[in-house]
Amino acid sequence: MANNRLSSLIAHTKAYGFLYPSSEIYEGIQAVYDYGPMGALLKRKLQQFWWQSMTQLHENIVGLDAAIFMNKKTWEASGHIAGFHDWMVDNKDSHKRYRVDKLIEEKVSVWKKQGKEAKANQLMAAMGNAMSSQDGDALRGLLVEHHIVCPISKTSHWTSARELHLMFATHTGPTQDHTSQVYLRPETAQGIFVNFLNIQKTTRQSLPFGVAQIGKAFRNELIARQFIFRMREFEQMEMQFFIPPEKDEKWFATWRDKRQSWYQVLGIPTHKMSIHPHEKLAHYANAAVDILYEFPFGANEVEGIHARGSFDLTNHEKLSKKKMTYFDPQENRSYIPHVVETSAGCDRLILMLLCEAFQQEEGRTYLKLPKALSPIQVAVLPLMKQEPFIKIAKKIYQEIRYDFSISYEERGSIGKRYTRQDLIGTPYCITVDHQTLQDETITVRERDSMHQHRLPISDLSSFLHDEVALKNLLKKLKY
Ligand code: GAP
Repeated sequence: MANNRLSSLIAHTKAYGFLYPSSEIYEGIQAVYDYGPMGALLKRKLQQFWWQSMTQLHENIVGLDAAIFMNKKTWEASGHIAGFHDWMVDNKDSHKRYRVDKLIEEKVSVWKKQGKEAKANQLMAAMGNAMSSQDGDALRGLLVEHHIVCPISKTSHWTSARELHLMFATHTGPTQDHTSQVYLRPETAQGIFVNFLNIQKTTRQSLPFGVAQIGKAFRNELIARQFIFRMREFEQMEMQFFIPPEKDEKWFATWRDKRQSWYQVLGIPTHKMSIHPHEKLAHYANAAVDILYEFPFGANEVEGIHARGSFDLTNHEKLSKKKMTYFDPQENRSYIPHVVETSAGCDRLILMLLCEAFQQEEGRTYLKLPKALSPIQVAVLPLMKQEPFIKIAKKIYQEIRYDFSISYEERGSIGKRYTRQDLIGTPYCITVDHQTLQDETITVRERDSMHQHRLPISDLSSFLHDEVALKNLLKKLKY
């Protein structure tokens, strides 16, 4: 049932210009998607909401737009060259591939629910040991020993586990050897860490302060399923918050709570959001939680909150030999700051918004997107394709296009035009009709209720500012 809904949603996003498989005329490329005209608008608006929540609403958070290519040493220092890989196994009966840690973590969470805490911890430790000693056979042995089976074939006929690197490598310049090798960044965060000194000096921020960034990241994901949930090229919205060393717990809790409330303001029902503390921490983290959304295919991560300690800055200091210390004038001491990061996946948030918005009622399909984020905020429609209606409608369009994203449409019956706007999630359609010619009022039709009311043209701009402007969402945030 849930998967039918997801399939219908995927078809809908393609049919109405939200998402297309990349290079589709050549049969596409796995786990890469393009945003169509409506998708591009939705994504920009979501990013703007995140960006303004972070930078405009926090006087101690500044923005950055770092390059995708970075000196290779960045990834040595960050631990990605040594540690950014997944252990994979194939099931010999179903020929399906799985991440070993995911299979084991599922078993562990079942055991924990049954109160078998010690057994669960033992298995996690055994997995850690096998991974650090690079022993693929031992990992396979753990799966077999604990009867961890493939969800499809229900057997534990596993291949030996193999370690696969997740970073994409390419070359810069005329030679193509290891000296010219570069990576496509697997996270945006490192652009912020390597610029820590530049930013601190140029903005003269004192701690605590944060740096926010939106940008592409690339991972050679080996299991690419679930539409835009797991992609090889995706976009992150990350914020690194630099703090004094003893303040990790406080700021970790603050940002966890702030980020959870952001989803409520976005209109995601609280029962569909949850928090999941990490069993197995990433190589850089001291503490971490995932914020999960209940997708049609199960509860899955949309954002991670990580206490990274001084891991990154300390390693960059070691490798670059550049001091990463901050002099704290209030405490009269120097230290390497600690970091709490919030790391959201833009594409996962788009999928979450679309899943929430997709409404199929009897005889009607529409997208109940947050009004401020809808690709088109208002459609201006002359009732008939005739001079007096068109003239007024075009005048309205010309006036409000500076503040809102608008569609102007004069073809087809008014009912069909409403339907089309519903399908892309336009919250308001305004119609210039016979009465407009007499009293300069227009019909305003609301997407969700389909309710219609009349409004003087002179009130339209302030009506839209109250109903669909981004500031309405921003004001709801307790930031
Ligand atoms: N800087 C920390 C970091 O990158 P992460 O948990 O690996 O942490 C953060 O990634 C977020 O990026 C995830 O919560 C997810 O929303 C998004 N993300 C990660 N891999 C992704 C992928 N292959 N496709 C889409 N989004 C992804």
